[in-house]
Amino acid sequence: MQAPHSFKIWLIGFMGSGKSTIGALLAQMLGCSFLDTDLQISAQEGLEITQIFNKYSEGYFRKLEKELVSQISQLQTPLVIATGGGLPIFTPIEVGVLIYLCLDFKVLYTRLINDSTPRPLFKTTEQLHALYQKRCSRYDSMAHHRINANQSPERVIADILKRL
Ligand code: S3P
Repeated sequence: MQAPHSFKIWLIGFMGSGKSTIGALLAQMLGCSFLDTDLQISAQEGLEITQIFNKYSEGYFRKLEKELVSQISQLQTPLVIATGGGLPIFTPIEVGVLIYLCLDFKVLYTRLINDSTPRPLFKTTEQLHALYQKRCSRYDSMAHHRINANQSPERVIADILKRL
């Protein structure tokens, strides 16, 4: 399958939902480029995401996300984009298709506690659960497609491809 010219596929969803893994594989299958917003911002600032939060603030990080969305939206190339979990909550995405990778909290939580990537917004289990509940309905209402991501990357990708 070939992605149409200037087509943008944005993967959105909570921390640990597999946006980067799925995004890279999906881009490969579609023969287009892949961009991870956290990696892009981190490379641009020369700092890890946690360091950006600590050295500056969450507000500063959200400003960088907003600028990046604006730059990406103007690119005339097909692209698969993995977003940070809070990106679509703070910055509306107006160009392209939004795909929400939806997972059960238990699965996400297990992934996050076993993941070495520090996440500044993961403080306690209760706080994480509250954030999950708050954000899931937001992802749901803005996404064009909701995909059950409680399955293997191959199945998740197959489900996404059926919707495109
Ligand atoms: C965030 C999620 C992180 C990263 C930052 C803030 C959030 O990305 O952008 O720590 O607000 O949920 P992942 O979704 O890749 O963990």
